[in-house]
Amino acid sequence: MNGKFPQHFLWGGAVAANQVEGAYQADGKGLSTSDLQPQGIFGAITPRTAGDSGIKDVAIDFYHRYPEDIALFAEMGFKCLRTSIAWTRIFPQGDEETPNEAGLAFYDRLFDEMAKYGIQPLITLSHYEMPYGLVKHYGGWGDRRTIDFFERYARTVFERYKHKVKHWLTFNEINMSLHAPFTGVGLPQESDKSAIYQAIHHQLVASARAVKACHEIVPEGKIGNMLLGGILYPLSCKPEDLLETQRQNRDWLFFGDVQARGYYPAYMQRFFRENGIQVAITEEDRQTLRETIDFISFSYYMSGCVTADPAQYESARGNILDMVPNPHLASSEWGWQIDPIGLRYLLNVLYDRYQKPLFIVENGLGAKDRVEADGSIHDDYRINYLNDHLVQVAEAIDDGVEVMGYTSWGPIDLVSASKAEMSKRYGFIHVDRDDAGNGSLERRRKKSFYWYRDVIHSNGASLKDRR
Ligand code: BG6
Repeated sequence: MNGKFPQHFLWGGAVAANQVEGAYQADGKGLSTSDLQPQGIFGAITPRTAGDSGIKDVAIDFYHRYPEDIALFAEMGFKCLRTSIAWTRIFPQGDEETPNEAGLAFYDRLFDEMAKYGIQPLITLSHYEMPYGLVKHYGGWGDRRTIDFFERYARTVFERYKHKVKHWLTFNEINMSLHAPFTGVGLPQESDKSAIYQAIHHQLVASARAVKACHEIVPEGKIGNMLLGGILYPLSCKPEDLLETQRQNRDWLFFGDVQARGYYPAYMQRFFRENGIQVAITEEDRQTLRETIDFISFSYYMSGCVTADPAQYESARGNILDMVPNPHLASSEWGWQIDPIGLRYLLNVLYDRYQKPLFIVENGLGAKDRVEADGSIHDDYRINYLNDHLVQVAEAIDDGVEVMGYTSWGPIDLVSASKAEMSKRYGFIHVDRDDAGNGSLERRRKKSFYWYRDVIHSNGASLKDRR
């Protein structure tokens, strides 16, 4: 793989505030939607009462242990770390006039620590959480006023960190609201499609406002969107299957189309009409949407198949999307189908469609690890998964796709989003904590730690084409 990755390729890892920080009420932090879902993004919405606890309340205690963790990332040679700012540390209820200084100070300390090692932050403004206060008092993204509250938050953090953070993302996996509306847009899970698309519209407008603000405030700042790259293949070459696949791929590409091109794609008119969906879009909204992102970022874990025949439809047990299993692919312990070539294909699809730089901001294997008696962890399955995906990234770069960087998901074990499990581990660094919250939180290097360090140090030359 010598020479395929560009010289300034941003190698690193990605985490999210609500999955690592813990300290869920520290220093004035307000409750977020994530704090109300202790069982994960598809779990029940649980009112918090004094004394109760969920695994995310402590998570891996990154809030207090970040210096040790950043030092470990630096030891692997990270050029970049993706994390998110917890909106509720800055605006605890969401609608305050002035920000919470203690929350702002925490991220100053975090970014300064990263700067010590030359690790660039890539910051998501909202990763699967928003202030619960905005849900309770305004109905979340269903209300237009949430756009203004978000813009105030975005402008506040751009001003504060404009000399420390140059790469920003607006909403994590923005297309996920179609499947988890409480997590995505703060609406009840059973909301109808009109309500969900209206809230999504408000979020798309808010994203465009953040893009504009970033361009105004952050010198040399770049801001991208973030899509769940759920690429779908037709199960057969039947034209009906192909058409259905195109339709379902448009469900998620729609978000990228608006954010990268600046307007609603033509196909959505028919989709809205035939599904009885009403969305109020003002002329001012249309103007705002014209402020487009600088780059496309996305997560990629698996591909899936589509058929027009409902009788063949069964679930591939993905955490997010129900897809028909691909008979040519193996699956992870969690039923996610492993498809490295799909990543090359997806990179090409997105680059053909948008001609904007791409950033792979999540990719990884959730697996159970075994700690040997001597404390070592031999996670060759993880090394193979990541190696094979990175080989395909190199191929896509060779195809001419402009790839800015790669941040693997969960470089340190963290709480999973879908089911709030610790046992679904993604890390190069093991954290001693189990699903019940027992454990010392001690950090330990896995075999993959040394493998990834070599990949970064060799700028990808150590990757092995195992095909
Ligand atoms: C993405 C999310 O969907 O997938 C992350 O952006 C999440 O927050 C990751 O953790 C992996 O999913 P899970 O459910 O295995 O944590």
